[in-house]
Amino acid sequence: MKERLSVLARKRGLNEEEIRMLEGRGCLQELAEGMIENVIGVMEVPLGLAVNFLINGKEYLIPMAIEEPSVVAAASNAARIARLHGGFATKMDSSCMIGQIQLVGVDEPLKAKARILECKDKILERANECDPILVKFGGGARDIEVRVIDTRLGPMVITHLIVDTRDAMGANAVNTMAEAVAPMIEEMTGGHVYLRILSNLATKRLVRAQAVFDKEALGGESVVDGILSAWAFAESDPYRAATHNKGIMNGITALVLATGNDTRAVEAGVHAYAAIKGRYSTLTVYEKDKEGNLVGTIELPCAVGLVGGATKTHPKARLNLKILGVESASELAQVAAALGLAQNLAALRALTVEGIQKGHMSLHARNIAIMAGAQGDLIDAVAERMVAEKCVRMDRAQEILKELGG
Ligand code: MEV
Repeated sequence: MKERLSVLARKRGLNEEEIRMLEGRGCLQELAEGMIENVIGVMEVPLGLAVNFLINGKEYLIPMAIEEPSVVAAASNAARIARLHGGFATKMDSSCMIGQIQLVGVDEPLKAKARILECKDKILERANECDPILVKFGGGARDIEVRVIDTRLGPMVITHLIVDTRDAMGANAVNTMAEAVAPMIEEMTGGHVYLRILSNLATKRLVRAQAVFDKEALGGESVVDGILSAWAFAESDPYRAATHNKGIMNGITALVLATGNDTRAVEAGVHAYAAIKGRYSTLTVYEKDKEGNLVGTIELPCAVGLVGGATKTHPKARLNLKILGVESASELAQVAAALGLAQNLAALRALTVEGIQKGHMSLHARNIAIMAGAQGDLIDAVAERMVAEKCVRMDRAQEILKELGG
């Protein structure tokens, strides 16, 4: 860890205080009380660094906060393979979020819809009065869309307020605007507004990443075919798709957490998007190119920010953003997409070739050795013996530890 930190300090210009923060086990002791209620402490997870990522020609070191072994190594390995054909190419649609305003109790919903659309300019003007700073930075309410939906309680008129939230995740700005325009919508339609809240299905904030994974580096044609078959399985079966997408989120959630963003918001959006065609399916798509290499693509909504919330208040989130070196929320989302694709490719390759357990085993063995009471050098010694014996169990760890005098 010491060696990694000194390389990182050199590469990213970290000062002594920042290095101490990474080495230390808690920078939140006092801050935590101001973040949530009834605080009793701080819950730590390991912070790792995914390497080898080349995205749109730029080099990244990606901080990942995650408790699961093998994930960081797997992503780094897939990113190394992607480099052979130029790394990841990524793109993001826009930084617009959707705020929903639920209108009920109108006799003629289509007429209400037409009325709301007629008043679009007034609604946008009122929304933008709420956040002059966002407007100053080039963001703000951009458009409205109105849908009439059938529900078990009758038709409802749902107004979508489309807000460009720039480098913020945007929940606060959007919710404030939705609350501000709701009385206008009631007045112009004679209906009653209940909910005024952001949608986590951020379909205006879609991000895409693509990479070519070299056939030979993957292990040859049969591995490529195996990965394609694994993907086809997941695409057609929600039971497998859930696990396939969970592997993608191993990477994305770890980065979202490391940067102080809202992991639940991103996960809710991603899984809803995976089912947007009416059946839950995969976020990635794979095909072969003319040379037989594997081309992987991922598309997902990714509402993350660089300003506001814990991204600004959490010292390690700020430090992780510095290490990552992104300049906009859009760039952060694009890195997340590339990481998700790398994670998925690595998982499918491991599953197709050797199964997932082999890669997990050495770190799992270390965990078991620690649980059995090993300390210092004995952790690796016990773990290595168990892996060599292909017997990674607590009872065996205890026996070996005894033999080694621990
Ligand atoms: C484990 O955390 C993730 C995997 O199950 C993903 C997958 O099956 O694709 C390995």
